[in-house]
Amino acid sequence: MKVYDENILKDGQKLVIRNAQENDGQGLIDLLQTVDSETRFLAREPGEFNFTLEQEREFIKSTMNADNNQLLVGEIDDIIVANCSVGIVSNNKRYLHRAAMGISVRKKYWNKGIGKILMNECIKWCKEKGVEQLELEVVTQNTRAISMYENLGFEKYGTKKNALKYNDGTYADEYYMILFIE
Ligand SMILES: CC(C)(COP(=O)(O)OP(=O)(O)OC[C@H]1O[C@@H](n2cnc3c(N)ncnc32)[C@H](O)[C@@H]1OP(=O)(O)O)[C@@H](O)C(=O)NCCC(=O)NCCS
Repeated sequence: MKVYDENILKDGQKLVIRNAQENDGQGLIDLLQTVDSETRFLAREPGEFNFTLEQEREFIKSTMNADNNQLLVGEIDDIIVANCSVGIVSNNKRYLHRAAMGISVRKKYWNKGIGKILMNECIKWCKEKGVEQLELEVVTQNTRAISMYENLGFEKYGTKKNALKYNDGTYADEYYMILFIE
């Protein structure tokens, strides 16, 4: 198991960043189900994430030895409080210069610096892999995430109209953002 860093957060808590392991299945299911119900800015309605433990373990396993993607978890006191995934957008040669990513942190742990630490690990992975541009899509109202991305050097390159349609019938637009990696 590769432990990337043990970070002491602003409030003194110790955050461990490491690759997800097969036995993180339940911890990751708990995290995803929690964050889906805490924010409207992710891809699923609350309760929509329905992987079984076996499916989640298989998914994690597929990431563990993969060369083209990385799944990191952030852990405090043995509880997974955040995850961050990054991967090459396609294995076709014409796309190997691009990676895409996603990130979530449990609400209770927002604003402690966890998001930024995980983002920097993603950027480091891109540099190691020779990725030239890191891309993401973010709901245009997600000002917290947008300012995090902008502080890291991402810029907006367009808007996808009505990217999400919620259960209540309303829509949200998304920005495309890209970080060009030197
Ligand atoms: C977006 C998210 C990942 C940020 O994680 P976090 O751990 O709270 O972020 P951090 O504490 O590391 O803060 C990082 C940056 O976010 C920005 N930020 C944090 N709190 C903010 C606030 N209240 N208002 C505006 N910007 C804020 C700042 O730029 C901050 O950098 P700084 O500390 O150098 O000023 C987290 O809020 C989250 O998981 N949200 C729900 C899921 C989500 O929206 N994911 C992204 C989908 S594209």
